[in-house]
Amino acid sequence: MLLTEDAPNIARSIDPAFRHDIVTGLSRSPKATPPTWFYDRRGSELFEAITDLPEYYPTRTETALLARHGVNFAAAVGKGRAVVEFGAGSARKTPHLLRAIAPAAYVPIDISGDFLHASSAALAAAFPGLPVLPVVGDFNRPLALPGAIEDLPRLGFFPGSTIGNMEPDAAVDLLRAMRRLLGDGAKLLIGMDRIKDRDRLVAAYDDAQGVTAAFNLNLVERINRELEGDLPIESFVHRAIWNDDKARIEMHLEALRSLHFHVAGQCFHMDAGETIHTESSHKYGARDERLLLRAGGWEPAAEWIDDEGLFALVLADAG
Ligand code: AVJ
Repeated sequence: MLLTEDAPNIARSIDPAFRHDIVTGLSRSPKATPPTWFYDRRGSELFEAITDLPEYYPTRTETALLARHGVNFAAAVGKGRAVVEFGAGSARKTPHLLRAIAPAAYVPIDISGDFLHASSAALAAAFPGLPVLPVVGDFNRPLALPGAIEDLPRLGFFPGSTIGNMEPDAAVDLLRAMRRLLGDGAKLLIGMDRIKDRDRLVAAYDDAQGVTAAFNLNLVERINRELEGDLPIESFVHRAIWNDDKARIEMHLEALRSLHFHVAGQCFHMDAGETIHTESSHKYGARDERLLLRAGGWEPAAEWIDDEGLFALVLADAG
């Protein structure tokens, strides 16, 4: 398509949901933006790099649990289920689960269509004969499962402690929506990151190489590029703090000096030291996990945890 000079293409390509979330988030006091917007192409690449960092224990710990406990999953879950994965991402962990439990179908759900179709194709190639039925969609909104799995019992798979991004009320709402979507007789295998030593937690979100800082600051670059922003990136620093009262790591972008900037035609101000709260990553104790699941309509049935007690995989039954 040809673009005329008086109608810059940037104005046309603005994603209204992104603009809405950022403009409302920056208008709020304290300023806070949803973590979903981290994951543009560069953000997804940076997140993949985070999962390989020495300080970032969750991915490798959870993957090891999945690799190690196949026999136990098979015994607890049985064969012939439709596995429904929420936020399938790169699906590096999924093959371990699928190999162990011989499912009848695999339904990965993700907002990013490109990413989803690439990873689905790779999975289908690795598991010939397994129907792979990707669903492009936001699992925080109502969605429908493919008709082909209508009569199959379901296993929801929600790895990565993604649930930790949600405030407790939203986490409960999501668990309840999953319970409704997956139906009676369903099971849920969910990864939950444990509360642990504060220094270890902070290091996982403020690594020595600065990859997490780049991931956080990439949001500023994305706002500038996609929302006609003029935030001075060199005047922001990444902060990761442990909020003990709320049992969560918070990521912030802190203004190093007093700032004025624009986003999508609107003016914003920040005082020196003021922050934009860009992400929360809640951590759970053993009882917290079970309480959260029960509040969301799931009865915990089994749990697998690494020797250091860093990360838990919980299997629950639809209540
Ligand atoms: C993808 C939400 C599980 O909270 O640990 C990693 C995202 N942010 N480092 C997490 C993240 C900074 C991650 N989750």
